[in-house]
Amino acid sequence: MAATARETLDQIAAEVRSCTKCPLYKGTKNGVPGEGGAEAEILFIGEGPGYHEDRLGRPFVGPAGQLLNKLLASIGLDRQTVFITNVVKHRPPENRDPLPEEIAACSDYLTRQIAAINPRVIVTLGRYSMARFFPGAKISVIHGQAKLIDGRIVVAMYHPAAALRTPAVMQALEQDFQRAIPAALAEARHLAAEGKLATKPASTEKEDKDSQPPQQLSLF
Ligand code: URA
Repeated sequence: MAATARETLDQIAAEVRSCTKCPLYKGTKNGVPGEGGAEAEILFIGEGPGYHEDRLGRPFVGPAGQLLNKLLASIGLDRQTVFITNVVKHRPPENRDPLPEEIAACSDYLTRQIAAINPRVIVTLGRYSMARFFPGAKISVIHGQAKLIDGRIVVAMYHPAAALRTPAVMQALEQDFQRAIPAALAEARHLAAEGKLATKPASTEKEDKDSQPPQQLSLF
């Protein structure tokens, strides 16, 4: 029998915790696979674990995580029911930016998580997760915008840590949450009812972001 989404996610989490595919694991306390509902309708993708996340082995549990929790609550979303993960699953030393080879080494975990969860909506938090779906885009230009990519609505947002540093970014992030996420979920439900979203069983889901050109949603 095919593995359930939860079983697949547990398997990926076990692999992440013992991962040595790139040197990032050295000097860390924990791999941070991600957490949340196995069949979440919405997936949030950050950059990489920080100090607090490394200590606890859980994503977004430090100050940026407190802000994310508040933003989720502000639009009636519960942290338990969404899924939250990162582009890289081990903390870069001194919280430096992840290197291209580290992102590449970790990429397959995210691909498999997306396939298992099969979310209708993906929200990228910050430049590194944005780059996976919107190569070459500038976050200051596309934040809050949504595109239909391979049967999912993908919305780019600023990173909560950037919002904590800069009041104008905080304002933009709060507005983007209020406006773009409920709209994306509503549009996703509408498209799903019409059979226009990824509806294949998780076990046969194929992630190939180059297979069709992204379409701009008329809604946004
Ligand atoms: N910043 C991230 O990008 N991810 C986390 O998990 C925490 C902080």
